[in-house]
Amino acid sequence: MLRNMYVKDLKPGMRVVDPGIDWRTRPYLYASERFIDSENTVQQILAQGYREVYVDLALSEANIAKRYGLAADCLTEPSASRIPAIRSGSRQAPSRRATLREELPHAVRLHDEAVDCARRLMHFAGKGRLCKDMAEEMIGKLTDSLERNPDALFCLSFMRCHAPYVYTHCVNVAVLLAAFSLGAGSDKSRVMAYGLAGLLCDLGKAMLPVSLLSARRKLTDAEQALMRRHPMIVCEILSSSSGVCAEAFTAALEHHERYDGSGYPHGLSGDDLSELGQLAGIADSYDAMSSSRPFKSAAPPHKALAMLYHMRGKAFHSLLLERFVRMAGVYPVGSVVELTDGYRGVVSAVNPENPAKPSVTLVLDPQGRSMRLHEFDLARDAVADISRCIPAELSGIDPAFILGLA
Ligand SMILES: [Fe+2]
Repeated sequence: MLRNMYVKDLKPGMRVVDPGIDWRTRPYLYASERFIDSENTVQQILAQGYREVYVDLALSEANIAKRYGLAADCLTEPSASRIPAIRSGSRQAPSRRATLREELPHAVRLHDEAVDCARRLMHFAGKGRLCKDMAEEMIGKLTDSLERNPDALFCLSFMRCHAPYVYTHCVNVAVLLAAFSLGAGSDKSRVMAYGLAGLLCDLGKAMLPVSLLSARRKLTDAEQALMRRHPMIVCEILSSSSGVCAEAFTAALEHHERYDGSGYPHGLSGDDLSELGQLAGIADSYDAMSSSRPFKSAAPPHKALAMLYHMRGKAFHSLLLERFVRMAGVYPVGSVVELTDGYRGVVSAVNPENPAKPSVTLVLDPQGRSMRLHEFDLARDAVADISRCIPAELSGIDPAFILGLA
């Protein structure tokens, strides 16, 4: 018999099961099947931000429900009508001090500045030098913008792609890692360390032949071996400067390692990988998938997230990946979406507590007629759900214009 209950009410001996519920609709549901062996385990699950579980009482040890008298207060029926009260937790969205429209002009300027910074960092990295102060100053500015409104830099990361990938990629990975750390409630120094780690983790590519980076073909074995050296090269460049944070070395070394041991340069796996290293790998892969490259077109962000999600538990740690998706939003800001009632619009704010229900600015009615712009919070207003994401170029909507970028 399955019972839905709060994580805080779990007791040692209980058996947690996966009820097969779409994680996007219940993002705070812990669904990794296991026995609860101690109070410590309960605290670990709580620390990861989960608030509810399903327990199979029949499988639980020694008739645990009876032993602890659980049936009365802490258990609910599977419909979990009490659970929607989960609106707080350790992983809240960072408070927004500015609206998206207020922050976007600053973010546009900062994003351009950051891309130029990445270009200069790469230039000097090619000579074996690290411009640490310049990188730290840039990360400080990006962090300030994320604190004011993380959605602004977020949507720029996939809507402004004029510069070469090798530079935009450094900036986007920095933004993703800093935003993740910010969303996890870290202090500013840790947020900046994560951002710096993202900005620097690919600097080693500056030492590789340009022909290798822009190849439109499959790399030869020898070329792949050369490419796989770039994490170690980054560490050599980082070592050329004193006072570089440990996080930068960690992300550089581990951003191509994979949870199942299939990565490089050392083939590390599982618990041998740090959380930051795994996150750097997720952010690096997400931006690579959602960016246009010489040999492929860009995948829409929601498709990139879906591709990543299929690697859950294999290349990437399941829980970390879920936390990343909640942070990025299933439908990131700037996505063009169609609702179940036929209206079309642009996602204008993500909802980390319910990634499938962001805020959407409606633009076209079901007949395709332009309408007065109006923003709906799909989680609060319950007007409709998102039925699909549409490529902007096929939608009749210019998301940059709607968000005030054009
Ligand atoms: Fe890399």
